[in-house]
Amino acid sequence: MQVATQAALVAGGGSGIGAAVARHLAGLGARVAVLDVNGDGAEAVARECGGAAFACDIASAESAEQAIAAARAAHGAARILVNCAGILAPGRILGKDGPLPLDSFRRVVEVNLVGAFNLLRLAAADMAQLDVLADGERGVIVNTSSIAAYEGQIGQIAYAASKAGMAGMTLPAARDLARHGIRVLSVAPGLVATPMLTGLPQEMQDALAASIPFPQRLADPTEVARLVQHMIENVMLNGEVIRLDGALRMAPK
Ligand SMILES: NC(=O)c1ccc[n+]([C@@H]2O[C@H](COP(=O)([O-])OP(=O)(O)OC[C@H]3O[C@@H](n4cnc5c(N)ncnc54)[C@H](O)[C@@H]3O)[C@@H](O)[C@H]2O)c1
Repeated sequence: MQVATQAALVAGGGSGIGAAVARHLAGLGARVAVLDVNGDGAEAVARECGGAAFACDIASAESAEQAIAAARAAHGAARILVNCAGILAPGRILGKDGPLPLDSFRRVVEVNLVGAFNLLRLAAADMAQLDVLADGERGVIVNTSSIAAYEGQIGQIAYAASKAGMAGMTLPAARDLARHGIRVLSVAPGLVATPMLTGLPQEMQDALAASIPFPQRLADPTEVARLVQHMIENVMLNGEVIRLDGALRMAPK
């Protein structure tokens, strides 16, 4: 599907990878709705890319339903959903203060995995009502997993489990929605220069970059956005998780 003129939802578009995706899709001519729990971040990015901002907690059924309805009213039903919202809450299974609090594990899974599924199901319901395009296509959904889905590090139990869940639902979601002409894909980034990592001390960022075989630098969020563009445009890509990591395979810590 061509990006130009389509209505697109970008969750987590108020910062980092989501902001880069929102700007990139808007630059290609999409009408972008930026959904983020951080309403100010969403507003700022939406203003930059001539889109619309909607405050939304993706983990809440009600909040997501309201945001998608408001985006539909502004731009029409979206044919593109890019799920970039996510949180990282480190913690060992057995930490200094005892076992990892269950609510801490649950919150990460609730936002990263349940939240992504929440938007996927609601956006798919809208897409399924649209006319078909070339090849019988109605829509495309891209989730942001992580290489932590495969090589989760010590202290990343909740994050890795949530991202593995996202990777694991990619194929069954694509199979499930195939009869509606909706494709589902995931991108699994390695280390990307977003506020998630650029807040770390420079030496730590340099050490992280040195662990990447080639190129030895953090990825730029626009490199993820370019992959998302290709995923939207190439109708044969479906049900797959694509790593974008400079051949990085993370060590235990
Ligand atoms: N930065 C990396 O190196 C990296 C690597 C692999 C995967 N990822 C994944 O990419 C995605 C984007 O990460 P980023 O680095 O741009 O982080 P970021 O912190 O810059 O952006 C994440 C955005 O998600 C929003 N968000 C958080 N919880 C939300 C909720 N409940 N509802 C709606 N919005 C919510 C935040 O407000 C923020 O704007 C995340 O899913 C992250 O796990 C990042």
